[in-house]
Amino acid sequence: AIERTFSMIKPDATKRNLTGAITKKLEDAGLRVVASKRVWMSRRQAEGFYAVHKERPFFDELCEFMSSAPTVVQVLEGENAILKNREIMGATNPAEAAEGTIRKEFATSIGENSVHGSDAPETAAEEIRYWFSDTEIVG
Ligand code: CMP
Repeated sequence: AIERTFSMIKPDATKRNLTGAITKKLEDAGLRVVASKRVWMSRRQAEGFYAVHKERPFFDELCEFMSSAPTVVQVLEGENAILKNREIMGATNPAEAAEGTIRKEFATSIGENSVHGSDAPETAAEEIRYWFSDTEIVG
């Protein structure tokens, strides 16, 4: 089925001018960018977005990093978009990411892992709603 998923290019990648290179990998895999904006999120926005991780030991470090420089938030659309995006991203830890994936090619550590992508339909809907209004999504 045609799905929408949420994708974010993280500060480590925007700082290295990799927005285009990462987006090209998503497009080459058949995903369409139907919404996109550059956001320098506040600490509070980062904490809200990652609220599900708030008990984790890395939560502070994660929110500090995500608000340290600009990100690019996107909505991707395509056949099986949620799973497809996760395949193109590769494993959370770049040391475990498969050849050809975004994290294998660009990420430097488990924290600075260049991209985020929704892991399921419910989180995709929530994460899209967190960053975008309906009129910003143009399919
Ligand atoms: P992401 O998909 O954005 O969701 C939560 C993030 O926490 C994850 O990617 C990692 O970048 C980050 N993170 C930082 N440290 C860790 C860790 N030790 N284990 C798992 N995730 C971590």
